[in-house]
Amino acid sequence: MAESMKGLKRTHRCTEVSVKNVGETVTVMGWVQKSRNKGGIIFVDLRDRSGILQVILEESDCGAENFAKGEKLRSEFVIAVVGEVTKRSGAVNENLVTGDIEIRAKELRILSEAEVPPFPIEEDSKTKDELRLKYRYLDLRRPDLQRNLILRSKVATAARQFLADEGFLEIETPMLTKSTPEGARDYLVPSRVHPGTFYALPQSPQLFKQLLMCSGYDRYFQIVKCFRDEDLRADRQPEFTQIDMELSFVDVDDVISVNERLLQRMFAEIGVEVQLPIPRMTWQDAMDRYGSDKPDTRFGMELKDVSDIVKDCGFAVFTGALANGGSVRGINAEGQAAMPRKKIDALVDFAKTYGAKGLAYLAIDEEGNYKSSFAKFMTEEELKALVAAMNGKPGDLLFFAADKNKVVWDVLGNLRLEIARNLDMLDKGQYNFLWVTEFPLLEYSEEENRYVAMHHPFTMPMDEDLPLLDTDPGKVRAKAYDIVLNGCEVGGGSVRIFQSDVQEKMFSVLGFSKEDAYERFGFLLNAFKYGVPPHAGLAYGLDRLIMLMAKCDSIREVIAFPKVKDASCLMTDAPNVVDKKQLDELYIDLVKTEE
Ligand code: AMO
Ligand code: AMP
Repeated sequence: MAESMKGLKRTHRCTEVSVKNVGETVTVMGWVQKSRNKGGIIFVDLRDRSGILQVILEESDCGAENFAKGEKLRSEFVIAVVGEVTKRSGAVNENLVTGDIEIRAKELRILSEAEVPPFPIEEDSKTKDELRLKYRYLDLRRPDLQRNLILRSKVATAARQFLADEGFLEIETPMLTKSTPEGARDYLVPSRVHPGTFYALPQSPQLFKQLLMCSGYDRYFQIVKCFRDEDLRADRQPEFTQIDMELSFVDVDDVISVNERLLQRMFAEIGVEVQLPIPRMTWQDAMDRYGSDKPDTRFGMELKDVSDIVKDCGFAVFTGALANGGSVRGINAEGQAAMPRKKIDALVDFAKTYGAKGLAYLAIDEEGNYKSSFAKFMTEEELKALVAAMNGKPGDLLFFAADKNKVVWDVLGNLRLEIARNLDMLDKGQYNFLWVTEFPLLEYSEEENRYVAMHHPFTMPMDEDLPLLDTDPGKVRAKAYDIVLNGCEVGGGSVRIFQSDVQEKMFSVLGFSKEDAYERFGFLLNAFKYGVPPHAGLAYGLDRLIMLMAKCDSIREVIAFPKVKDASCLMTDAPNVVDKKQLDELYIDLVKTEE
């Protein structure tokens, strides 16, 4: 029979007790981490979210009845202990905050017994992810997850405080809404009252925050759940959290300035001083130098365009790609000439997963001789010129990709990351921030045979590119910016279109008729007719920020109850079937389709 807390009140969390309390009587409560019965004396490691405290039970202190209870203790029992704080009788435990003290129990209560957990509740448990997620409530007891969630809470609080101090108002926007155009698939919620119609869960509060600017709230923020039905990855969940904001009467630099100070404030929580200003790079430079719109600048290995050097060479793979309007680019893995063939082959296979038809390489040994997959197609002079263009020195290993620009960027951008990962070059303790600016406004979708918005359709073109909207839309750059940290897109935003004629033009370039546009976003277009301030905003992926701060590899490690790759929750078994009655109320019939 479990005992009650009646008459007891907790005085301290475990690690709030210190040598300063020696001689005092305290009441502590928590979980038994470990209990060792040494005959006549029982040592209990008591755990709560603050850490661990050693409790000692001896019959002479606590009496026979309490001691008998002590003999029954097992891991994860929940107990309350009243006892006197004393200096540790045995050796001081340097690994514990409370390693120099112990509590000599006068009273012990067992508040809840516990079955043996399916895995040990300890740091860095090697337990399989499936088991951890099925018993997430136990997994969440582990100190690493507790640290992550405590950090998450602190960073969110810091952000809230900072934004409030800067004059931002926290305003909630609806979860049951109309589809927002962020480009992913929507999660739909059927309406009972309006048969056959659906709400969409918001992919972001984008339209509502713009409306709040129209309504004069001037500066808005929200720490808000967003929903996107897209393929999951280590840095993607179907529901995730944004720190979302919007500001009136501002341009790019104003948004960047307030956000640099916000980042500084948030990273102070982990003792990292963000150096301001954060470097900026245009999208074009990011692609040319790193093959990515979210470059990891913790290391070099930059891409070089060698199209000019190889344009007349004898290697048909290179000249063929150029004739097709593509390019030939390379990276230099310095000092890696001795990389075993097997590893090079693995990199070639890796490149192919990003659409490469092949990957050409050239190793320069210490004597300056070349070992290469394509040397036989080129003259000595051509090879020399190529090596010189790549700054190749004895001991270096060069890789080249030839294809359409998009493929070459993607292949080499990912290859440089893979090589850096293989060589353990990525230091999680180093935080390299970068603003990527001047994104293309539009992207041509071969699939849909039309332009689609690279960010979203409310993004303002750069002033000097406005005329190109009519003549060469693919060339228009946007007032859009992403904040990138160690190669991860942790946030993004833009200045918005606030003139209805520009907005209508944008919709027409995107292939929406005026009717389509009004059908989907009429409320926004109408709002713009009644006086709209110039406005801009940005949203962070809070989960990604915390993942990087906590030096984790997946956002699952910083979300209390995450979903797995197929978007299900292993603990609750969501999604799941519902009663026929529920479906009937929603006018939903499930139809079996042929597999
Ligand atoms: P965007 O779509 O770039 O912009 O989203 C902002 C940030 O949210 C994070 N993020 C995600 N994190 C986890 N799982 C996901 N599935 C996921 N998708 C996005 C990223 C991203 O940078 N309304 C605009 C912002 C604006 O223009 O103000 C928006 O949502 O870190
Ligand atoms: P091959 O003559 O097809 O054996 O190709 C010679 C070398 O060029 C091999 O190392 C291929 O992997 C490489 N290669 C093939 N296609 C490409 C490409 N599009 N870009 C770079 N290298 C390639």
